[in-house]
Amino acid sequence: MKFEYAPAPESTAIVDIKPEYELFIDGKFVASKSGKKFETINPANEKVLSRVTQASAADVDRAVKAATEAYRKTWSKLSGAQRGKYLFRIARILQERAREFAVLESMDNGKPIRETRDTDIPLAAAHFFYHAGWADKLDYAGLGDNPKPHGVVGQIIPWNFPMLMLAWKVAPALATGNTVVLKPAETTPLTALLFAEVCQQADLPKGVVNILTGDGLTGAAIVNHPGINKIAFTGSTEVGKIIAKSVAGTKKALTLELGGKGANIIFEDAPIDETVEGIINGIYFNQGHVCCAGSRLLVQENIKDELLEKLKRRMSLIRVGDPLDKNTDLGAINSAAQLMKIREMAESGDAEGAERWSPQCNLPEKGFWFPPTFFTGVSQAHRIAREEIFGPVLSVITFRTPSEAIEKANNTPYGLSAGIWTDKGSRILWSAQQLKAGVIWANTFNKFDPASPFGGYKESGWGREGGRHGLAAYLKGDFS
Ligand code: NAI
Ligand code: MG
Repeated sequence: MKFEYAPAPESTAIVDIKPEYELFIDGKFVASKSGKKFETINPANEKVLSRVTQASAADVDRAVKAATEAYRKTWSKLSGAQRGKYLFRIARILQERAREFAVLESMDNGKPIRETRDTDIPLAAAHFFYHAGWADKLDYAGLGDNPKPHGVVGQIIPWNFPMLMLAWKVAPALATGNTVVLKPAETTPLTALLFAEVCQQADLPKGVVNILTGDGLTGAAIVNHPGINKIAFTGSTEVGKIIAKSVAGTKKALTLELGGKGANIIFEDAPIDETVEGIINGIYFNQGHVCCAGSRLLVQENIKDELLEKLKRRMSLIRVGDPLDKNTDLGAINSAAQLMKIREMAESGDAEGAERWSPQCNLPEKGFWFPPTFFTGVSQAHRIAREEIFGPVLSVITFRTPSEAIEKANNTPYGLSAGIWTDKGSRILWSAQQLKAGVIWANTFNKFDPASPFGGYKESGWGREGGRHGLAAYLKGDFS
C-alpha cells in the first residue's frame, strides 16, 4: 500500500512583494535615471513577481559616490566594536524575519522552502553573527597590526543562493570596515531588496550598503568603475575570466568564486546507506545549482551495482514539485535559460553514448523542471564528465584502485570540492592530501560553516571566503 502525502503548502501571506522596486543608494530607494525595468518571475509557475530596475552606469556612479562618502565620513571613523554592533543587529533581524526571507527566496528562486528555511537563511544569519564577532578582533586575526580595509568594494552575486551569497559577501566586507556596492543576479533580486530594508531597520549608516539590480551590463559597470578598490564575484568561469581581464593592470583587488565539477569518491568499504544519502545531498540539493556539487560520482567498480540499485530506490523517493510545499525535495530549475543548458548537456550525454536514468516523476506543466537524473557508462572524455551542468544530473564513473580514483578526480580544469566515503581514517587523510580541491568532505557532503574557508583551485577561482582566510580578502596586504 502506498501512502500519499497531503499537500503542505507554506503560506505566502508573510511576504509583501511590491509591484516595482527602485535602487537602494545612500540609504534610500531611488529611481534610476534610465527608467528601465525588467521582470523577475517565479520559476515554478512563470508568474511575474515584480518589476525591478536596470541600473545604468550613471546609477553605478551614484552608488559608488555614496559608498565613498559613507566610507570617508562615517564607516571608517567607527571602531570595530561599533561596526560589530550593526552586524549583530542585522543578524538578529534576519533571524526574526527568517520565515519571510525563506518564503520570498523560494518564490523568486524556485528552491524548496525546506532548504531556504533550514539552510539558506539560517546560514546567512550565521555569517553575520560570525563576522560581527570578528569586527573588534581584527588585530588578533594574524593579519598584521591594525589591518586596513580596501574602501569601497563591488560585489556581484549569482542566483543559486541569492541571500546566502549576499551574506558571504556583505558580512566580511562590513566587519573589516569596507563599504559596499552589491548587484544580485537578474533572476533573483528580491531577497537583496528585502535586505536593503533590513539595513534601514538596523539603522545602518546611509551609503554603507548600496544595492543595484541589473544584468551583466550593470555588473560590468561596477567592475570597471575607478572608485571601486576591490571586486568580489561569484558566478560562471566565463564571466570570471572577463572580470579578471578587466581588473588586470588596475589597482583593484579581486576574488573569484567560479564553477566546479566535484568528485564524490566512493570506496568499497564505504558505509553504503549513509553514502547514498551523501550522494543525494551532493547532487540533488538545490536542484544541483551548486558550484561545489558532487556532480561526478567515482565509485569503486566492485560495489557499483549494489550502490546504484540503492541509489535508484532512494531517488524514486525524491519529491519534485511546488517549492513552497514543505514536503518538496527538488524544486524548479531557476530559469528557462538554465533549463535549456541542462537539457542540452544531458542530450550530449545521450549522443556520446552514456546511459540516462531518472525515476518516474510527474512534472508540473507550468514552470521549469528537470527530474533527478544520473548517467552511467560515462567516460572521462564525455562532456558530461568534464563540463559543469549546474542541474540535477550526476555522471557515474568507475575506478579500480585508490590511485586511479585520485587521478580521475583531479583530471578536471576545476578544483572546488571533493567528497571521500570510506571506513578508513588513513584513506581519508591519504586521499585528502592528493586531491586538488579547495574543500574536501569526508563521509559527508555540502556542509557549510561560516568559520570554514571556501574557495577553489585552477578554473574554480581565486581567494577564499569565510573563516579567517576570508577576512584577508577584504583587507589590504599580501597574506598569501
Ligand atoms: P553569470 O556568471 O553570467 O552570472 C553571475 C552574475 O554575474 C550575475 O549577477 C550576472 O548578472 C553577472 N554578470 C554577467 N555578466 C557580467 C559581466 N560581464 N561583468 C560583471 N558581471 C556580470 O552566470 P549565469 O549566466 O547566470 O550562469 C551560467 C553558468 O554559470 C551556470 O550554468 C553555471 O554553470 C555557472 N554558475 C556558477 C555559479 C557558482 O556558484 N559558481 C553561480 C551561477 C552560475
Ligand atoms: Mg525570479
